[in-house]
Parts: sequence; structure tokens; C-alpha cells
Amino acid sequence: MDRMLSGIKPTGRLTLGNYIGAISQFVKFQDQYELYIFIANQHAITVPIEAKELRQNTKDLIALYLASGLDPKKVTLFLQSDVSAHAKLGWIMTCMSYMGELQRMTQYKDKTAKGETGITAGLFTYPCLMAADILLYDAKYVPVGIDQKQHVELARNLAERFNHRYSDTFIVPEPVMTTVGQKIYSLQDPTKKMSKSETNPKGTIDLLDDPNLARKKIMSAVTDSLGVIQYDPENQPGLANLLTIQSVLAKEPIEAIVSRYQGKGYGELKKEIGQTVYDFLSDLQAKYRDIQDKKIVDQVLLEGAKKASLIADKKIAKVYRKVGFTITK
Ligand code: AMP
Ligand code: TRP
Repeated sequence: MDRMLSGIKPTGRLTLGNYIGAISQFVKFQDQYELYIFIANQHAITVPIEAKELRQNTKDLIALYLASGLDPKKVTLFLQSDVSAHAKLGWIMTCMSYMGELQRMTQYKDKTAKGETGITAGLFTYPCLMAADILLYDAKYVPVGIDQKQHVELARNLAERFNHRYSDTFIVPEPVMTTVGQKIYSLQDPTKKMSKSETNPKGTIDLLDDPNLARKKIMSAVTDSLGVIQYDPENQPGLANLLTIQSVLAKEPIEAIVSRYQGKGYGELKKEIGQTVYDFLSDLQAKYRDIQDKKIVDQVLLEGAKKASLIADKKIAKVYRKVGFTITK
């Protein structure tokens, strides 16, 4: 089995967009790849965050991943800060990177272009740490959203640079786009991505939202005045978004839903989708609570860190020899 790795930043609450675009795909990948998923808590502090919030986000994130069907027997799930090799290789990658290439990273560029103040040095250099995260494990595939593709490209460049400067050490990883065809949009502005940073809470469904509230959000989702049920993302983006949500959660092809609703109104369709979302969240949250009650998270992380360290420690030892940190042969 090929190895695949991805990291998730524990900043903010997870949305239905995260579930459909990323989590549900990881659940599929765990049967097809040797999968490593880690919580990128060292990345989370590139923007100031309170310790209490970070702790809570981290616990919620893991519990929600487990509740969504990630199986610790198949996937290695761990905390980045539990495996010290990330920070160690991160520093070496920082020293392998050029200011110019980091200045070209769009996330950093966007923030500076907007004139944001208080940007930390960590935010500038975090693509180097991300490269270390990936290269430590010899991951062949890295599933990410489109905004992260550039960072995986940097990891590729750094792997090649290191291999060339020293000797063959790292596998050159390939990005895998997670959101292809299944991007979920805001319920209030279907031209914008459903995102945890959205200001209008009615546009976003959080995975920990009260299921009744989530149903209401579906009922009040923005559609259009055409009044025809068909899948036309261009002219009816709101409706297309709702159809996608229903299709993924109820595992029914969009065409089948559309044909069931010929001659019917949006209200009826929304009612069904609202019920689907209600059932989905109720089930997910019941599992989430069960995981918390049984205190499963600590055990999963302990075992995950052990398994991850086995690989990462070996790799960093090799790197330390190659760069000349280790002085005995
Ligand atoms: P973010 O929440 O932006 O850090 O993204 C974490 C992961 O969830 C990435 O793989 C994203 O592509 C995915 N994701 C986030 N929002 C959405 C969305 N609205 N639709 C589909 N995928 C999403
Ligand atoms: N930077 C990624 C994000 O903001 C998270 C991340 C950190 C990651 N390290 C990674 C993703 C390694 C994939 C591989 O979403």
C-alpha cells in the first residue's frame, strides 16, 4: 500500500464543508492507503490562539474524526507536537528555503497585501514546517485543498534540493486534490465557500450545531426564482449546492434526486434535505459524545504518537547524520 499523509489545523470549528470535502474522503482513503493523519497544532499557533481554545479544538477535532469513521486500526492519528522530529526537521527545512520562495506563497502574500499587521515570523516560515511534516514519513500522496497545493510543491522542491545537496533521502510527494467536484458553498451566498471563518452563521453548518438549528439553516438557504429543480451550478448555484449536500449525505446520485422532484417545489426538497442533515448530525454527535464519555481520544493519540515516532525518529536520525549534526559514525 502506498503511504498517504495529511495534516489538519485545529483552528475553529469543523463545518459540513470540511466533512464533505476532506473528512469523508480520508475515511475512504484509509482502506486504500497506509494513512497518517496528524493534528497540526504547531501550525495552529502561527496566528495567536488561546491555550484553552487550542486544547478544546484539538479534542473536538479528533473526536469528530473518529466519529466520522476514521478507524485507529487502519489510520495512524497523532498530534504533531507529540513527535519532536517535526520541529527538528522543520528547522532544517527552514534553512534549506529561500526568502524569495517563501515570499511567493500566496497565503502569506494575501495577508501582507491586505495590509494585515502582527503577522508572525512563524506564519512566514510555516511552509517549511509543512514540508518537514510530509517528508519525515516518506509520504507519496498528500491530500489537500487547493489553497495548500503550493505548499506541497515547495515540499517537492525541498525534497529534491536536499536529495541533490546531500544524497537520496526523501521521497518526492504528490498533492492529491480533495475538493474535486465536491466543494460546498455558503447557504447564504452560494458563490462563496462554506467556511469556518464565515461571518454569517446562517451560511455555515457546523458539525457540532444543534441538528434542529442546522435544519433551519437548510430551510432558509438562498436559492433562486426559476422554480425548476435541476442541477445547474452556473445559473442555480444555491440549488446545486443543496443537491450536492443531499447526494453526498444520503448517498444518492444527483440525477436520481432531480428526477424524484420533477414538478415539485423547492420547499419540499429543502424539507427532505433538512431531515437528511438533521439525521446525519444527530448520528455523528451521538458517536462524538460516546467517544468523549469513553475517553478514547487519549489512548488513540498515545498509540498514534508511538507509531509515528518510529518512522519519524529514524528519518531525522538519518538527516542528522547527513547534515553533519551527528559526529560519530
Ligand atoms: P480549512 O477548513 O479551510 O482549513 O480546510 C480543511 C480541509 O477541508 C481542506 O481539505 C479543504 O479543502 C476542506 N474544505 C474546507 N471547506 C470546504 C468546503 N466548503 N467544501 C469542500 N471542502 C472544504
Ligand atoms: N497547512 C495545512 C492547512 O493549513 C495543514 C498542514 C500542516 C498539512 N502540515 C501538513 C497538510 C502536511 C498536509 C500535509 O490546512
